[in-house]
Order: sequence, then C-alpha cells, then structure tokens
Amino acid sequence: MLNSTIFNCNVLTLPKVHNRAGNITALNNSQDIPFDVKRVYYLYDVPGGESRGGHAHKELQQLVVAASGSFDITIDDGRNKKTVSLNRPNYGLLILPGIWRDLANFSSGAICLVLASHPYNALDYIRDYEEFIHMKLGYKKFI
Ligand code: TYD
Repeated sequence: MLNSTIFNCNVLTLPKVHNRAGNITALNNSQDIPFDVKRVYYLYDVPGGESRGGHAHKELQQLVVAASGSFDITIDDGRNKKTVSLNRPNYGLLILPGIWRDLANFSSGAICLVLASHPYNALDYIRDYEEFIHMKLGYKKFI
C-alpha cells in the first residue's frame, strides 16, 4: 500500500476470442490477471456528469474494465497522477492498493466492471484525501 505507484498500475490487454458473430473475453483467476478474484461488481446507470471513486484502498487490488461504453479513471499515488481512458472491453486498468482513484466522464450506457481481490470491507477504504497523503507520504502535504 505504501510503496505502490501509478507507474505499476498498468493497462492490461485481456484475451479476446474473436469471430464474425462477436467477441468473448474470458478471465481466469491468477492466469489472466495478477490476483485471485473474490468479488465482481459493476457500475451502471451513472448519470451524465457524475463522478465516482474518490477513495483509495489499503489492501484491495482491482481490475477495472469498460465492459460497455467509456469513462476516464484518474489514479494518484500522492506524488504523481495520470488519467487513463477505458473504452474497450478487452483492456483493464490494474489498480494496486494505496492508489487514489476518481472515475469521471461516463458515456451514456457505460458499464464499469470491477474484479476485486477481496470481499467488500468498508474498513479497507481511505476516503479522506489528506489522510491518504499522510499515510502515503508520512507527512501532511499542503493541498
Ligand atoms: P463505493 O465503493 O464508494 O462506490 P464508488 O467507488 O463506485 O463511488 O460504494 C458505494 C456504496 O456501495 C457504498 O455504500 C458501499 C456499497 N458497496 C457494497 O455494498 N458492496 C460493494 O462491493 C461495493 C463496491 C460497494
């Protein structure tokens, strides 16, 4: 959680079985993604202009996929930030523990599919940005 950086949060190319009738992407635990999946959830019906996220996790790893439509994810490790646009179902952004994320610019009908390494646990969230910076950098950054 303390050592993770945005540079280790890569966009993974997921396998795609293509034929003229459409595509299939299958994700096998620990084979196609670097952790065991304990939970799957998806965001949908996000109203135009709304944003989601606004937190970091202490332990949780996630793979985030635009199963339909598109959206942007800004990831932040306390020192650096980058914005990744997801718009194809065969790409997934790996978000390591200790990374602040904000999701925005959802297209209409977007589905944000999340594969997660742990069951839901409210105690795993850091929802206060100053607390995040303090935990991550060990001091209070002026923000
Ligand atoms: P949250 O993770 O804050 O949503 P987002 O990051 O997409 O903005 O979760 C929103 C609410 O949904 C919160 O009250 C907890 C609940 N929730 C669950 O009950 N189980 C889950 O697996 C998730 C991800 C959220």
